[in-house]
Amino acid sequence: MSWIVKGSPDFRDSGLEFPPNFVFGSATAAYQIEGAAREEGRGPSIWDTFSRIPGKVANGDTGDRACDHYHRLTEDLDLMASLHLESYRFSISWSRVLPEGTGRTNQAGIDFYDRVVDGLLERGITPTVTLYHWDLPQALEDQGGWPARATAEAFAEYARLMGERYGDRVRTWTTLNEPWCSAHLGYGSGVHAPGRQSPRDVLRAAHHLNLAHGYAVEALRGVVGEDADMSVTLNLHALRSSGPTGPEAVRKIDAVGNRIWTGPMLDGAYPDDLITDTAAITDWSFVRDDDLRAIHQPIDVLGINYYSTKLVRLRDPASTERVDSGNAILAGNPWPGADDVEFLPQPGPYTSMGWNIEPAGLMELVSSVARAHPDLPLMITENGAAFDDTVVDGRVHDTERVDYLRRHLTAVHRLIEAGVDLRAYYVWSLLDNYEWAYGYDKRFGIVHVDYETLVRTRKDSAMWYAELARTHRIPE
Ligand code: FCB
Repeated sequence: MSWIVKGSPDFRDSGLEFPPNFVFGSATAAYQIEGAAREEGRGPSIWDTFSRIPGKVANGDTGDRACDHYHRLTEDLDLMASLHLESYRFSISWSRVLPEGTGRTNQAGIDFYDRVVDGLLERGITPTVTLYHWDLPQALEDQGGWPARATAEAFAEYARLMGERYGDRVRTWTTLNEPWCSAHLGYGSGVHAPGRQSPRDVLRAAHHLNLAHGYAVEALRGVVGEDADMSVTLNLHALRSSGPTGPEAVRKIDAVGNRIWTGPMLDGAYPDDLITDTAAITDWSFVRDDDLRAIHQPIDVLGINYYSTKLVRLRDPASTERVDSGNAILAGNPWPGADDVEFLPQPGPYTSMGWNIEPAGLMELVSSVARAHPDLPLMITENGAAFDDTVVDGRVHDTERVDYLRRHLTAVHRLIEAGVDLRAYYVWSLLDNYEWAYGYDKRFGIVHVDYETLVRTRKDSAMWYAELARTHRIPE
């Protein structure tokens, strides 16, 4: 696919108009906002456990209270309505509805998500449900977690139950959020829950996450009907090559970071080069005969999360020097079979995560997916930025975030103009929230949360985004 780049080269355009049926939403995830971690029958998840291991999360922060969204649902729903959101992407806490992951249900938890869904619909906001945003019930981790096949089977049961309960009102279903993080960070580098470090477990976990996705789509289809939209959200890595070894480094990371998901889910096979790259780690005998058929389910829309680019080359074998890419998420080598790849620092500007701000990367990534899968509609299920915001006289002047959003939404607009079938954009995130291993230190919200008083304050970016959602035009 090619496109003519219109408008300013730095992506700072305004006045661009989006199609009337394009959807502007915002996204959150259960563990990051809900709190009420031990209330009304919720069972523990791997993040409840992991966040208590000393040294794993900044300041020892946990999601015990988070934004207290569980108790402030009505206020938060009204907030969304005041921002003219057309859709809200949220996740269900598996252990709130099935405290042990399978078997016994928790009625209070099921009722909570009924109130979420109904409250959204009453306000004219379309719910988009994510079934799994990293919070595996601890009971399932105790039985082996994602490296165990039984977890995929339990996920199918959970998906069916959720479909039966909410399928009459929820018409877009996302199975997994960023399975790369679940497998590679959870079982490889160990910077996310459950914090294990085993290259073999990464690949086993990846396969069972793929299987869980396929099983869930099949189970949901059976209960929510053919016209509902099935989806999965992937954080595909936008890779850039440096120097003569760059292309080989890109190939390797693309295999173990991107095609490990898109291969089986969209094309029905694991890539040959991935199997070769990882041959010293596993023979992949955990993949059973019928698995690829089970994973390769038709989906209706693919969710892509995009934040920044990655610049790679192969490490010089003679050098002992370790380059710091500036992206702490890449610490501890979460890439089985690609240990010789080096991540390089990239030009700024940067967000407070140390991530480079590069709207062109969004265009590169989305257009490459559209080229490979021209008939698959796409949505941006996350995009946004953390900055060190402060409230002054009841206002948060987050000009850098407004600029980030303007530039990325300009990129989205250019993709649509170029003919890419992009359906929706969800800003990450509605609220400042629990940013995993960073605890409460990183603020991604368009709405500020004071973690002492739990007061919500709309940042300037929230006003700007509300105007965009209301008018479908990029505001001045
Ligand atoms: C994504 C996650 C989301 C949030 C953002 C910043 O990887 O899906 O929960 O942490 O990054």
